Amino acid sequence: MSRVDKAGSFLLGDRKVNRMGYGAMQLAGPHVFGPPKAPAAAIAVLREALAAGVNHIDTADFYGPHVTNRLIREALHPYASDLVIVTKVGAVRGADASWNPALSPAELIQAVHDNLRNLGVDVLDVVNLRAWGNMQAPMEGSIEEAFSALADLQRQGLIRHLGLSNVTAAQVKQAQDIANVVCVQNHYNLTHRGDESLIADLGRQGIAYVPFFPLGGFTPLQSQTLSSVAARLEASPLCVALAWLLQRAPNLLLIPGTSSVAHLRENLTASELRIPAPMLAELDALA
Ligand SMILES: NC(=O)c1ccc[n+]([C@@H]2O[C@H](COP(=O)([O-])OP(=O)(O)OC[C@H]3O[C@@H](n4cnc5c(N)ncnc54)[C@H](OP(=O)(O)O)[C@@H]3O)[C@@H](O)[C@H]2O)c1
Repeated sequence: MSRVDKAGSFLLGDRKVNRMGYGAMQLAGPHVFGPPKAPAAAIAVLREALAAGVNHIDTADFYGPHVTNRLIREALHPYASDLVIVTKVGAVRGADASWNPALSPAELIQAVHDNLRNLGVDVLDVVNLRAWGNMQAPMEGSIEEAFSALADLQRQGLIRHLGLSNVTAAQVKQAQDIANVVCVQNHYNLTHRGDESLIADLGRQGIAYVPFFPLGGFTPLQSQTLSSVAARLEASPLCVALAWLLQRAPNLLLIPGTSSVAHLRENLTASELRIPAPMLAELDALA
């Protein structure tokens, strides 16, 4: 089994997590809607992740909706004391599987209570406010009302730590004037690098940056350079993409998603892969 701890750890709020984590979105049905074809396989992925040392899981109650959180509860509750579950609020699903913004204080309060109930906890470890915008790039605009509503819920003791998702640097600063921010989750990977300066800025402040779509998302990354480096390292291209992220900056925490135990095992081996400097330079040039 892979040594997940070889990738190092990072402080997420007051909790130390291994930098190699797991993103649970792929566990729901097609288009992240409805139940998976084989719930037992989804449960096996979650249990295998924890058995391998993963102690940071990313989820949202709008995956399914409710499906992913309920699978996490079924597979892992009562939770290990070192497990940190990070959830997101700010969206709801339509009956047609559409993704719709839900950022009013009333919708956010509802979402936090849905997460508490479906995960089976009294307090959520980390809640990210997912600002609106498309998957390619965040959109400027005030998040004050929404983030203040979450800060209220934190003061009420329902949330331990707050984070942000799909945000600009200006929105991070705006949120930090309202409450402490422990992590930022944005789209970033080998070929999508809009957040370089944000990552460095967050790193200086000890804040985690958690790239979503670390493998490229629904259509995983493909590139000749990546395949060539992978062949020389005798690793899979997607493992190299994850190892590149781990070497990119110490505040990057990984949450690769998969619905397959075999893919999970393969991805976790990235924790032990070191890419030598000349090959890192080849990969850096891919942007
Ligand atoms: N904040 C946001 O707006 C936002 C948006 C998107 C995602 N997220 C979070 O980020 C996490 C990661 O993103 P993601 O799951 O969408 O994308 P990803 O991790 O970049 O890639 C997942 C895709 O790669 C495939 N895959 C994984 N490992 C593989 C392997 N070893 N070989 C071949 N294919 C492999 C998966 O299919 P299989 O299931 O077949 O392995 C799936 O199609 C999510 O789980 C979610 O928690 C957040």
